[in-house]
Amino acid sequence: MKTAHLKIWRGSSREDGRYEEFEVAFEDGDSVLDGLVRIRLHQDPDLAIRFSCFNANVCKECMMLIDGNVEYACIAKLREGLIQLDPLANSPLLRDLVTDTLSPKERL
Ligand code: FES
Repeated sequence: MKTAHLKIWRGSSREDGRYEEFEVAFEDGDSVLDGLVRIRLHQDPDLAIRFSCFNANVCKECMMLIDGNVEYACIAKLREGLIQLDPLANSPLLRDLVTDTLSPKERL
């Protein structure tokens, strides 16, 4: 097993949030989403993440900033060392890594 260090944005306001760091064990091929789910299961059940299809790249609900780049957490792979995770920058923040990504039409 290898260890990734995930530095994760926490909070429901961009002004009052903070980063928290978690270590997560992984095997080659595990995704960032796999690591986030493990953190929720074993370290912090309050961590807000969103996903639906889980590794199928269909729902697009797991989009976030991974080391500053917009990526799908279910596609991006864990690696050893520090990985910074932030909510999408141009969408309203709901909490932690979850933003409101619905278009106005979908809210009707
Ligand atoms: S969980 Fe559906 S695209 Fe990532």
